[in-house]
Amino acid sequence: MSIFKDLNKDIEMLVKEAGYDIENLSLQISGRKDLGQFQLNDAMTLAKKYGKNPRQIAEDIVLKLSNDSRFTNINIAGPGFINITLSDNYLIEVFNTVLNNINSCIDKQLAKKIIIDYGGANVSKALHVGHLRPANIGEALKRLAKLLGNNVLGDAHLGDYGRPLGLVILEIKKMYPNLAFFDETYTGSYEDVDLPITNADLEKIYPLASAKSKEDEEYLEEARKITAKIQNHVRGYYDIWKRVVEISKADIKQVYDRLNVNFELWQGESDAAEYFPELNEIFEKSGVLEESEGAKIVDVKKETDNSPMPPLLFLRSNGTLSYQTTDLATILERKKKYDPDEIWYFTDARQSLHFEQVFRAARKVKLVEDRVILEHIPLGTMNGKDGKPFKTRDGGVMSLKGLIELVKEETKKRIDTTTISEEKRDKIAEQVAIAALKYADFLPYRGTDYIFEVEKFADLEGKTGPYLLYSTIRMKSLLAKAKDIKYEKMHMLNSEIEREIAITILNMPNILTKSVEAKSLNEIAEYLYKLTSQYNKFYNENKILVEENELLRESWLILTNVVYNINNLLLDVLGIEIPEKM
Ligand code: ARG
Repeated sequence: MSIFKDLNKDIEMLVKEAGYDIENLSLQISGRKDLGQFQLNDAMTLAKKYGKNPRQIAEDIVLKLSNDSRFTNINIAGPGFINITLSDNYLIEVFNTVLNNINSCIDKQLAKKIIIDYGGANVSKALHVGHLRPANIGEALKRLAKLLGNNVLGDAHLGDYGRPLGLVILEIKKMYPNLAFFDETYTGSYEDVDLPITNADLEKIYPLASAKSKEDEEYLEEARKITAKIQNHVRGYYDIWKRVVEISKADIKQVYDRLNVNFELWQGESDAAEYFPELNEIFEKSGVLEESEGAKIVDVKKETDNSPMPPLLFLRSNGTLSYQTTDLATILERKKKYDPDEIWYFTDARQSLHFEQVFRAARKVKLVEDRVILEHIPLGTMNGKDGKPFKTRDGGVMSLKGLIELVKEETKKRIDTTTISEEKRDKIAEQVAIAALKYADFLPYRGTDYIFEVEKFADLEGKTGPYLLYSTIRMKSLLAKAKDIKYEKMHMLNSEIEREIAITILNMPNILTKSVEAKSLNEIAEYLYKLTSQYNKFYNENKILVEENELLRESWLILTNVVYNINNLLLDVLGIEIPEKM
């Protein structure tokens, strides 16, 4: 149980002693610091329950609180709002508890098994700016849900199956018609067959093939046939497809690595397709499939709908699977392999209809038990100044690599060249760039669009990743300079800002719980900024290392230690690395 819950329980006990039974106390940080650190609004609710005057109830509660030395300056405002301030001894206790066990800032949840689908990279296409938010936010929520005690798996869910792969392999065939993969008389192993294609080639081949297919019907038809060959595991075609997937996957992994995004599972749409026969049987048996112009569809409308809900395309007339069906097969695959309690999908908001159709069809045939939660979490986009998804200077799709480089150019300018050697500079510029990009992406609510502003994101001042890193590194170096301290316990508080820091720390469990419930990191991003700025104010007001009062110096360093540990923990949740120096 967290320090905040402990405090709530203690107050609940006192309210009970005053004669009132209460279940969920409403203890809140007060917006009116002049009246008290916390506010309690329960007298109003209790008044209804007990048919009494709220003011009378508040007075009864205050009497009990006043007899407890942990609470000071207790007063009643208006009809019965109770203002409470915590004693310094209690706040010192807060620091000491967190110092000994940082888990006291966390309220664990009832452990659930959760699969998070937040990759969605497409094989042979470069990761682009639209892949940033799902990866970034999905990874952080995975880390947060784990921290809160859940059993969580992240899945990259690669787009490795559809027509784009048919197009790419067709174009490779045009470039290298004599490759053994395309030679029907070849009977040897493909393992040692050289494929003279790099990832950079793939990234050029796909747009080329895609453009050709739009102009040339025959070319498109050929690509369709190759797609079918891949999906039917036809020798040669299936083998070159596997090789292409490997080449592309290695590059995709590298980009995700740069963003500190790590998937436990690297399943692809192709893995799910293996479950199609079983899925098909479930759908056939349940009688929900309808024929429509040679295709099979599922009606997923509901009477309560007030916007159009098109049917789900289950099987195309040419026998290939739709994007929706691949997702249905993926649900079946996940159920059989992992039996999750919840599946969360992070994608751009534009895929909302897709997921609504998929979930409705899944429920119709009871693909998973009713208790299993399927949730799409729609995300806003990162836009350019024109309000449209951020593009390259010449108006093209911005790759994720390109985006990272752009931010890195900016953070490089701000690296301290006097203390950081040239070999280290690039690595540090990269770490700071990733922090800048990620933090800026967390700051707005996840459903809200925002604008890419590189100078602002990379700034060392203000609500930015670099500000947090710079401040946290400074805490670390301060701690390193005070080697004589044993970091056992805080002795005293000396100023108002120290008390404010304690209150902020007390509130941390609430921020974590709210974030996981909202599936958004904006509150954690704001929280880190608040705690860090409060700490910096404290830092600037005091000469910590040269303080002559030993007990005070030790107390200040302990405060620093606690804030440093919290920053470390939360930056790690956000997937932001702290460089050695910057
Ligand atoms: N590959 C897809 C795309 O680029 C995203 C996949 C999202 N996940 C899912 N289970 N559909 O649009």
